Amino acid sequence: MEIFSNINNTYLNEITKKHSLDLKINKKPKYPCFEFKDEALQFSFTDKIFLKLDFLKGTINYRLQRAHHEKHLKKAIGKNKEPQLILDGTAGLLSDTLILLSLGHKVIACEQSKYIYLLISDAVRRAENQLGFLENLILVNQNSIDVYLEKENVDIVYLDPLFPQDKKQLKRSKSIYALRDILNLEKIVINDDKLFMEFNELKPKKIILKRPLKSEIIYNTPNYQVKGKSTRFDIYI
Ligand SMILES: C[S@@+](CC[C@H](N)C(=O)[O-])C[C@H]1O[C@@H](n2cnc3c(N)ncnc32)[C@H](O)[C@@H]1O
Repeated sequence: MEIFSNINNTYLNEITKKHSLDLKINKKPKYPCFEFKDEALQFSFTDKIFLKLDFLKGTINYRLQRAHHEKHLKKAIGKNKEPQLILDGTAGLLSDTLILLSLGHKVIACEQSKYIYLLISDAVRRAENQLGFLENLILVNQNSIDVYLEKENVDIVYLDPLFPQDKKQLKRSKSIYALRDILNLEKIVINDDKLFMEFNELKPKKIILKRPLKSEIIYNTPNYQVKGKSTRFDIYI
């Protein structure tokens, strides 16, 4: 994959080398590609359609400002004396991880897609001076099952698989639409049902599975559920 930029710097050289990208300086972009603009990385589908993350603005920042209102997620985590070590097995655009961090927990966030990982780690780089809780984040570009097998003491496995394609959801979240397109470009097969089953067999202390509110329970019966307006958390202990 190519990355187009009008400037060159150490950071760009580092990421292009580490992730085997092809850096093009002062060239006209050929879409789809990465672009480095205004000190930020974006994934561009065309000159007008792109995915760029900014944790310091918009809906995610608003949610972070009032994270104490996230009562459903708090209930799903439960009351604990100590901060929990949470493995987010489906990091995606990192929104859920950020909320978990802002509630005081430690998170190991795993994202299998190289392109999505690059976008979220770039957004973390731009936000880390302002969001102190990011020091409790470990971000990895790996399959979450493999990461879980290497780690001890994980208190909670958090999973938010891609929901079945539903027009209402796509309207609500253009970013998730873009995420799907990026996974398709990388030829990553979306098989998130399998992911829950694989984790369940490893018997973690607790799994929190985020699902659309009205979706069927397609897995084992959860120990309890916490229901919100459009999503619910199925909890397996
Ligand atoms: C619906 S998105 C998660 C959205 C995320 N909760 C958020 O707040 O933005 C699901 C993500 O999980 C990732 N994923 C699925 N299976 C994975 C696995 N085994 N290891 C790592 N990442 C995985 C997909 O690539 C996708 O980016």
